[in-house]
Amino acid sequence: MKSIIIIGYMGAGKTTVGKALAKELGVMFYDLDWYIESRMRKTVKQIFDEVGEEGFRQIEHNMLHEVAEFENVVVSCGGGTPCFFDNMEYMNQSGNTIYLKATPETLYAHLKMGKGVRPLLLNKTPEEVQVFIREQLMQRESFYEKAKHIIDINVMDNLDKVNETVQEV
Ligand code: S3P
Repeated sequence: MKSIIIIGYMGAGKTTVGKALAKELGVMFYDLDWYIESRMRKTVKQIFDEVGEEGFRQIEHNMLHEVAEFENVVVSCGGGTPCFFDNMEYMNQSGNTIYLKATPETLYAHLKMGKGVRPLLLNKTPEEVQVFIREQLMQRESFYEKAKHIIDINVMDNLDKVNETVQEV
């Protein structure tokens, strides 16, 4: 099996869906942010603080290449992974990419509930976060839409749709 690579904006549920998929398929699961954190022995936030976003993107790019070498795995990426270097083309070459598509409202609602620290959303008011999500999603959508499969998580039975896509893949 070619690896399954899950992409999408922050709060789309990439990690949750990726874990469930890996369990269903009986394969290993890798979350790229967690992989980066364990390889660098630093949190994503510490990396952003120390080397800025540009430094983080270089590390993310290198780590993506490491993870993509693994066979028979499910990988969930960071929200920005597909949008830097040639990462999106590379992911399409090395795996079956799935874009979890959601509206800005759904993403915001998920992010508000979640406990994870997202450096890009820190020090912003709730209103600013909502505007940021809307604008950044528009900029990123053209990268995300290059994925081989697109699952709209706003549409009804998204779990069925995930299962359907897994069967297809
Ligand atoms: C980022 C998303 C984060 C993480 C980093 C940058 C982004 O991952 O990689 O904070 O640029 O969208 P999640 O999408 O898993 O939150």
